[in-house]
Amino acid sequence: MKTTEMNRREFLSKTASGIAVTSALASLASVRGTFATQLAETPAAVSNDDFEKLRREYLLAPDVTYFNHGSIGTIPKTVHQAHKEYLALCETNPWLYMWGGPWEEARAQTRARVSEFLNCSPDELAFTHNTTEGFNLLAGGLHLKETDEVLFSSMNHAGASQCWRHHAQSRGYTVRQFDFPIREVPSLSPEDIVAIYAARITDKTTVLVLPHVDNLVGIRYPVRQMAKMAREKGVRYIAVDGAQAVGMIPVNLQEMGVDFYAMSPHKWLQSPKGIGLLYLRKPVQPAVRPMWVTWGQKRWAGSVRIFEDYGTRNLSELLTLGDAVDYQTRFNSRKRDERLQGLRENFREAVIRHPKLKWRSPADWQTGTSLYAAEVVDESSQEVFRRMYEKHGYVFRAFHAPDWNVLRFSLNIYNTHQEIDRFIELFDEM
Ligand SMILES: Cc1ncc(COP(=O)(O)O)c(C=O)c1O
Repeated sequence: MKTTEMNRREFLSKTASGIAVTSALASLASVRGTFATQLAETPAAVSNDDFEKLRREYLLAPDVTYFNHGSIGTIPKTVHQAHKEYLALCETNPWLYMWGGPWEEARAQTRARVSEFLNCSPDELAFTHNTTEGFNLLAGGLHLKETDEVLFSSMNHAGASQCWRHHAQSRGYTVRQFDFPIREVPSLSPEDIVAIYAARITDKTTVLVLPHVDNLVGIRYPVRQMAKMAREKGVRYIAVDGAQAVGMIPVNLQEMGVDFYAMSPHKWLQSPKGIGLLYLRKPVQPAVRPMWVTWGQKRWAGSVRIFEDYGTRNLSELLTLGDAVDYQTRFNSRKRDERLQGLRENFREAVIRHPKLKWRSPADWQTGTSLYAAEVVDESSQEVFRRMYEKHGYVFRAFHAPDWNVLRFSLNIYNTHQEIDRFIELFDEM
């Protein structure tokens, strides 16, 4: 082939993809622009009355009352619309959007936006699929020796525990779980919680794993104080399960002083399902081997992308994560916090007054969160769930074990006081 002919071909192909990239970026900007206009046209809720009207911004079926954000969240219509449009755009030229690179910049912007929201550097935040993936990466990849011990309590979710047990068998490190006094939770203070963990740490403890908010009774663990205490006792790595925290309570990664923090934004941040985050503090990144490896990955050595880039993935949900953050941050953070606290207080008082229910979560908002549990005195919690769901459309979680027969509620800002009052009325009807 003559050189001139090849140059012409190269020139043509570059121009063709150049045009495609330009039009891809224009389409992306148009989706972003529509989203921003919609957000601007929807006034951010500033009072409790406005929050009561927020439900119409969601896709939830009219006959469903959703008290289960702790299991899986729901997505606002505007965020869902942006997601659908990114998805549709991807299908207009799948190769271009996956490998052609027009969204490299958008991906970087999303990472920067989310890191700003969580107060960390963009180069400390890996896109995963969920919390479970984040912990699997750590349990399989963190450099640990046979003499090292991983410690956690019975409040850990399986997604933050099973992987350590699994990898301990082949990698030789030890895993130790201790029983957290769950029945004492209503009277525990943040200092008590620090002391409970402090008493279990030994000089063998190398990794401490703890939830920021557990999924059983919704304790708000004093992570900063716990990290300080653990470091003073010689713990090398502090890994936090943030599945129930991000989007529900403020998460300030730098301030907490932990090494790893895994997240599932599909719960409280109301992002699409299938996109997760893992914070890896910069100085500890070299201590983790990537879980997945593939061709060309070496180019990400020394960057957080080494932990996430392992082949084809759904970029539309990744981009939508940025829109979910924009949606959430349009609310005044203090009002948002007061809203969740107000709903909780209403529910707590109703439970305390009720002869067949017992409050099982922390007593106040300082130690508690928007996830809480009520023990049922003389009926199986699963039976209550079946009745309330099948007859009245209430969705929440029931835990049923010989010594733990509870209903778990996890309400978000658009849930209403009326929904709580009606729950109690219907529960009374039996
Ligand atoms: C505290 C906690 N950690 C981890 C997980 C696992 O989350 P995912 O399935 O998104 O990985 C959950 C899920 O409910 C959870 O509540």
